[in-house]
Order: sequence, then C-alpha cells, then structure tokens
Amino acid sequence: MARIIVISDPHLSPTHGFFWDNWCRTCEMVNQLAPDAVIVSGDLCINGPDSDAEVAFARQALGRLTAPVHAVPGNHDVGDEPPGQDAGQIIDASRLQRWRSVFGADRFAFDAGGWRVLGINAQLLGSDLPQEEEQDAWLDRELGAAARPVLLALHKPLFLQSLAESEETERTVNPAPRARLLRRLRNAPVQVVLSGHLHCHRDVVREDRRHVWAPSTAFLVPEPADSSADNVLGILSIELSAEGVRVERIDVPGLVAYDLLELKGHGRYKYLRDMPACPPGS
Ligand SMILES: [Fe+2]
Ligand SMILES: [Fe+2]
Repeated sequence: MARIIVISDPHLSPTHGFFWDNWCRTCEMVNQLAPDAVIVSGDLCINGPDSDAEVAFARQALGRLTAPVHAVPGNHDVGDEPPGQDAGQIIDASRLQRWRSVFGADRFAFDAGGWRVLGINAQLLGSDLPQEEEQDAWLDRELGAAARPVLLALHKPLFLQSLAESEETERTVNPAPRARLLRRLRNAPVQVVLSGHLHCHRDVVREDRRHVWAPSTAFLVPEPADSSADNVLGILSIELSAEGVRVERIDVPGLVAYDLLELKGHGRYKYLRDMPACPPGS
C-alpha cells in the first residue's frame, strides 16, 4: 500500500502572503503523516503567469515538504487555457517555459502501491500550443503501456455535473478538449481523476470512474461549484493498493478559512494580485 497526500491551490506569493501561515501548517501536518509522495494539484502561485519571483518562491516553498513532491501547474501558475477567466493571463510559450525552467516539468508519472500515477498540465488542454500535442502523445504512450490501475491528476476538473455538459466555463476543462481527453481515457485503466481549482471537496462516480475534487489549503470561494460539494479547506489522503483506492479528506489544524470576497475588499480589488502588498510573515 502507498499513501499519497494531495495539497491543492495553496496560492503562495513573496509579495501577497495571505496564505503563507496556512502553507506552513499544512507542511507540518503532511511531514508528520510521512506519506510516500505528495501531489500538488496546481495554483501554487497567485500571479505566476506574470512573475518570475512568484514561481521561484512557490518552488522553494515545496522544499518544506520531506516526501517526494509531484506538482502540476494551474491557471495561477502558467495562465488559463482560452478563453479563460482573465484574458490578460492566457497560457503561452513563455509562461509555460517559466514554469518548466523552475519546476523541470509540467507533468509527472510515478508508480505507487501497484498503481500508475500520472499528472498532466490542464492549462494546455484546448490551448493549441505545440506542447499540447506533445503532452497528448506522452499521455497516449503512458496509457497504452499501463498494465495497472491509473490515477490521473490535473488542475481543472473535467466537468461540474455531467461528462456531456456543453457550456464553456473557466471552472472546468472546456467541452472540446474534454471530449478529446475522454477518448484517450476510454480504454485505459484510469480509475480516479483528481483535480483542484474549485476550492471545495467532492467525490463522485461517473461512468465507472471516480472524480475527486481536492480542497484548497488557502481560501474558500463565495459559492461552491456544486451544492453537494463540501466547502472546506484541507488536504486529501489517498491510499493505493491492489485492493483499490481509499480517499479521505483530512483537516489541517490551525488553517484559517479565508473568505475570498472579504480579502478582495468585497470586489474593490478584482484579483488578489491587485491587493496592496503584504509579504509572508508581515
Ligand atoms: Fe485556486
Ligand atoms: Fe485554478
């Protein structure tokens, strides 16, 4: 059996340190749990798409964790896939290169508890960048060679309610790239799809596959993306073995459940990056 801890959406920044204490509490707890590996499912930064310092800061912050760490980027790290939440921060070659030069890669693969664990860059899906094609080919190779159950991690969930939903929303992978990804997964032993981004926790099954939303360690959103989701902070423990998978949300003692609207002055500041600076520890 292998135990993986999932941390999502910590939203770290050297200039806007709202959630730094939450990050420190989270790392203490995860180190006590001593998992076999840690997955960080994106949004490590607040303004990663436009800040070298921020991406470097997030990479350095991972050094507080003692277990091997596998991270994939989110929209706050490399920019959104089009059309996106913020037209000024769409993923492009230089934003992707910034992440890759600091983190080494924007995807991962490792074995744990008799499973294959894969992570992909959700922000490439529908981006039309050459790196999207490259990632597709890599995923096809991985899935084609998978003789064991697979857990697939990415920042954005594939859907809100239904795999067939047709609306474009920045909350999920868009319908066209979702359909392409689902075709790739069709005959592959992918049993669990794990995502972040929505800052709430949900665990549902669609077409024999489990879709798990990892909660954030940073802040709650005003309205959870689904009324059945748990609007809570925390981390996930995932146990993988020949018998299957066990997923549990765990509270982290001392985390402060910041309210996004309150932080942004109830709309006075559109984005957290617009807020007056408040470095970690200030
Ligand atoms: Fe986030
Ligand atoms: Fe996100």
